[in-house]
Amino acid sequence: MAELQSKRIVLIIGGGIAAYKCLEVIRRLRERGCAVRCILTRAAQQFVTPLSVGALSNDAVLTDLFDLDAEREIGHIRLSRDADLIVVAPATADLMAKMAGGHADDLATAVLMATDKPVLIAPAMNPRMWAHPATQRNATTLRADGIQFIGPNAGEMAERGESGVGRMAEPAEIVARIAHHFGDEALHTTPGTLAGRHVLITAGPTHEPIDPVRYIANRSSGKQGFALAAAAAAMGANVTLVSGPVGLPDPAGVRVLRVETATEMLAAATAALPADIAIFAAAVADWRVSNAADEKIKKGAKAALPKLELVENPDILSAISHLPPGQRPALVIGFAAETEHVVEHARKKRKSKGCDWIVANDVSPATGVMGGNRNTVHIVTAGGVEDWPEMDKQKVADGLIARAAAHLEATTGSA
Ligand code: CTP
Repeated sequence: MAELQSKRIVLIIGGGIAAYKCLEVIRRLRERGCAVRCILTRAAQQFVTPLSVGALSNDAVLTDLFDLDAEREIGHIRLSRDADLIVVAPATADLMAKMAGGHADDLATAVLMATDKPVLIAPAMNPRMWAHPATQRNATTLRADGIQFIGPNAGEMAERGESGVGRMAEPAEIVARIAHHFGDEALHTTPGTLAGRHVLITAGPTHEPIDPVRYIANRSSGKQGFALAAAAAAMGANVTLVSGPVGLPDPAGVRVLRVETATEMLAAATAALPADIAIFAAAVADWRVSNAADEKIKKGAKAALPKLELVENPDILSAISHLPPGQRPALVIGFAAETEHVVEHARKKRKSKGCDWIVANDVSPATGVMGGNRNTVHIVTAGGVEDWPEMDKQKVADGLIARAAAHLEATTGSA
């Protein structure tokens, strides 16, 4: 927590109904010792008042580029340079368009243009506005410019009867993301945040027998799944880890079920339900041998090569994602191991498997991810993609579990 203590955050509040949620973001950041300086766009002032924002941030609220007193005292260039991170929440369609177009006609956009600091935006708008090709084009431009995104989430909108992707990420999610940005483990692994929750995780490879001594396998080490189990246990969850054959010790405080095959993994995972969060980190073999021999296959005298017939294994992630409401865990997260077009394939996988998030990673041999200790992941949700920097697998696990805990708290209330 000490790490966040000295962090200076400039929070730009855009003009949308979600602006009221920023009061909660300010409160939570201040509780954790961040200095929060707020800028309200003209439109934002229709939704929240400088008075309430100022009372919570305990600092002057800036509203206009041509407020000469404020400009003399601090100046938009200094304001943008003094910050450790600039957060835009809610980022409206209009604000995103201005950012993508390089406009600087008010204080908020001038600060965004002048800054050399990281920028995180939390889009919020009507689903049709988010889906509009212009907004999607702007989002692509902003991502290419290095702007980080959180959300938007799917769900009910403020307008009656409207739902879809466009809701601003919840304050707890935004704060967890900021903490993750600063690598503040104390904040994103607050003990007890998952107390009373059951987290189911699959890990490792599966072994599909050819005969009693031979099998089909893959290079998965199980490290990422075991790191996730340790992170969830550290946050107070009851954790069931269903693991294929790996050489790793049981993480402390985790119920570990060791299995061999995909069929056994599916049975163990299904039997472990209900769960609040299910994370499928296992590299399940796609096929098994349908004609596996009961006895060791001998080399034929005339060198007749044995023929292996393969059948497809059950898809565990898909099976659990498609369970009816009530049986399905509230949050289902899959992994996507890809060697090319990583995010594009992951997007398709999220839809085809029916899960909520996909953690996509590049497992090309050159990356050293398979079996290694480091990982570079992209979190693909209904709202978009978050690109995380390269970090060790335990950090990826801590960040993902914190993100999942915040999401669960925001969508289903505390445990
Ligand atoms: N998965 C699963 N059961 C399977 C295959 C995959 O639960 N039989 C899960 C993995 O744990 C992972 C996700 O599905 O969370 C995607 O796995 P991946 O190997 O990337 O995808 P596949 O479905 O195997 O597709 P492909 O190999 O064609 O890319």
